Amino acid sequence: SGQRPVKVFVTRRIPPEGMAVLNKAEMCKLDVWDSDEPVPRAELLKGVSGAHGLICLLSDRIDAEVLDAAGPSLKVISTMSVGFDHLAVDEIKKRLVRLRCWHALGIRVGYTPDVLTDATAELTVALLLATARRLPEGVQEVKGGGWSTWKPLWLCGYGLSGSTVGVIGLGRIGMAIARRLIPFGVKRLLYTGRQVKPQAEELNGEYVSLDELLSQSDFVVVSCSLTPETQGLCDNSFFSKMKSTAVFINTSRGSVVNQEDLYEALSSGQIAAAGLDVTVPEPLPTDHPLLTLKNCMVLPHIGSATYTTRGIMSELTANNLLSGLTGASMPSELVL
Ligand code: NDP
Ligand code: DGY
Repeated sequence: SGQRPVKVFVTRRIPPEGMAVLNKAEMCKLDVWDSDEPVPRAELLKGVSGAHGLICLLSDRIDAEVLDAAGPSLKVISTMSVGFDHLAVDEIKKRLVRLRCWHALGIRVGYTPDVLTDATAELTVALLLATARRLPEGVQEVKGGGWSTWKPLWLCGYGLSGSTVGVIGLGRIGMAIARRLIPFGVKRLLYTGRQVKPQAEELNGEYVSLDELLSQSDFVVVSCSLTPETQGLCDNSFFSKMKSTAVFINTSRGSVVNQEDLYEALSSGQIAAAGLDVTVPEPLPTDHPLLTLKNCMVLPHIGSATYTTRGIMSELTANNLLSGLTGASMPSELVL
């Protein structure tokens, strides 16, 4: 370790592209939790102790306890995700101040925006179409012998042509979703969020209030980040403002949705259907009430899951870490 003085803890096996970058970095002494399963909390606390760099995933909660376990050596946290709600940003910032007093750099954070935008938008479109056109139900009917003949109203759903789509959080991914949906013949694109997005003009996107979006949209797509303001945003009052024929899609984070209220809205016919790529908890228990509903389709958080995207994400995560450790500018640094 004399030759490799920089200790890096990696909380999971990451794709080979990222590992190759890390292995080439001669300064690093790597300690990898060599598993496809999440690192147990106790192992995380042990592994991070005295580390200079930490590569983590969205399933690792990086809070005061982890930062304390790491100690003052920790310079960089690099997460292989664009979402960073699993990082206690306030705690990280606090340590920045303390370390500055000691004339050190403080903790820098890397993440993976942009490189997963296309894959996630593509998956969102797939989820939307599959939910609205009831593909899982159809597949089940074929396999289970429920397909008796062609029937005029059997397995009918809702189409995008002539529809109004409402996007909550028109960020990188929200915009990429909208760009992909418009060619299906969407008539109006509505969006809501904290501010008007000039880039929405290219799609004739209309900035509206949340209430207006909910009452007018045939498809409500959630692609915002999880923050204290968006936590539990999609609740009883939210669903009660939607059309009974509307389809709800969430590919942001599970905590944006109150799942009990969603179950109620789906089972009572308050809304037509829901497609979720994210839930609370993950994995969703197999006996969860939402999984008993035919009009609810749940995917296991696979928004960015293409081989190419995950490879690029891992490379970016490794490069963010190494740049941060050497004090260079990081390819994607989260400005705290
Ligand atoms: P961006 O930061 O580009 O977009 C997030 C958007 O959320 C911004 O437009 C932001 O608006 C908006 N937002 C923030 N607060 C609110 C609010 N109170 N109401 C409405 N909108 C709000 O991030 P990305 O598009 O790159 O990623 C978005 C999220 O998608 C990630 O944070 C992650 O949670 C999730 N994700 C999920 C994946 C999956 O596998 N399912 C894959 C990748 C990402 P403003 O600009 O005004 O702040
Ligand atoms: C993210 O990056 O935040 C996604 O949820 C997984 O790619």
